[in-house]
Amino acid sequence: MTENVRLMQEIEDRKVFNRRKFLEFLAASPVVLPGAAGALGGASLLGGGALAQSYDVLRQSPGNVGEIIDQPNQALDVFDFEPAAKKALPPAHFGYLASGVDSDATLKANRDGFDHIRIRVRRLIDARKIDTSVKIFGETWASPIALAPVSSQGAFHPEAEAAVARAAKAKGHQMILSTVGSTAIEDVIKERGAPVWYMLYPTDDWAVTEALVKRAEAAGAPAIVLTVDRQGGRNTETLFRARRLDTRTCTDCHTPGFKNEVSRKPMFDGLDVSKVTNLYGTGMTWDYVKRLRGIVKGKLVLKGIVTGEDAKLALTHGVDGLIVSNHGGRAEESLQSTIGALPEVVAAVNGKIPVLVDSGFRRGTDVLKGLALGATAVCIGRPYCWGLAAFGQPGVETVLTIMQREFETIMRQVGATKISEITAASVSGRA
Ligand code: GLV
Repeated sequence: MTENVRLMQEIEDRKVFNRRKFLEFLAASPVVLPGAAGALGGASLLGGGALAQSYDVLRQSPGNVGEIIDQPNQALDVFDFEPAAKKALPPAHFGYLASGVDSDATLKANRDGFDHIRIRVRRLIDARKIDTSVKIFGETWASPIALAPVSSQGAFHPEAEAAVARAAKAKGHQMILSTVGSTAIEDVIKERGAPVWYMLYPTDDWAVTEALVKRAEAAGAPAIVLTVDRQGGRNTETLFRARRLDTRTCTDCHTPGFKNEVSRKPMFDGLDVSKVTNLYGTGMTWDYVKRLRGIVKGKLVLKGIVTGEDAKLALTHGVDGLIVSNHGGRAEESLQSTIGALPEVVAAVNGKIPVLVDSGFRRGTDVLKGLALGATAVCIGRPYCWGLAAFGQPGVETVLTIMQREFETIMRQVGATKISEITAASVSGRA
């Protein structure tokens, strides 16, 4: 080799080396390339947000990821968090989260429903820049993906709803706090740095119910969400089976008796709960909704409506919004998916009030289907609790990042640059 040839070879090698270094730098950099800035651009596993291409994965160093992820950033989808949550939790607590009712067939139907709806993609539309914000009750949410109320999050992680609220703040999502949450609403609002919605379980003592509503509204909750789907009792068989595998003494933490269960939840602090016998089977009717309407100063939302008939009754009772929900398949074994029930509720409401939907949403494509079928926003429950149980706040953040990234990806493929461009024409088929 002459001196010149060797020199040329050296220059060529250096170019390749520098190019590789440059690519590595890009992959590790938080810089978002022009046009790649979705609501959460840059935060993704592939380093390119929703516009990442599959070859971007080649920039990642090979990882030693076992069957179960041990860091949030190893997750490829939200399902990866479920086994990690199972590993982290005692059997009974995981069973509580996992359980549907009876044979868990409605839980499954919620997921299966999405498979009957196809997405109609559109081509040759520049959707690199998209806006995922939605307006609801005059408030703008950066994302249509909100966090559904899930009770007793202290069973999943010691930081409970506070960690969830911090993740919701970091990633720009709204959340709804449960009456039987492990954290007081004032603390949740402080951690989120903005008001959250409050999910009310109706007690059978009006004075207690009224006090809960007043406290939530005084803390800043703009919406009270009355859950109406737990009136009949339920058989959470998966939880009962899991309990048998748990060798711990549950009564060390759970003092038996309903009154103790309720009074250890911070939203009941300072209230006389001696007359409360139930939060779920209270025998409430539409008269109760009317009475509640009389005291709720902000918005009143009903959660658990799944038929057009009940949606119409909600309208005549002055309800401001609905959440189509079967409680994540843990209310009754109806076999009716919420994605299947959504169109009749949307049709009955006819645009008069916002309709949200939850139960079984796990993919960005599920979110798009919900919005295409008329939902204003979509709530997720178990996925963020899997993230919480496995990794605390970073787990919740990554679940939100993944769902948002997937959602942005499919928005681009249907050619929607904003939420209003996701319409009935974006999907075909029936759940
Ligand atoms: C509470 O909301 C539950 O489903 O257990």
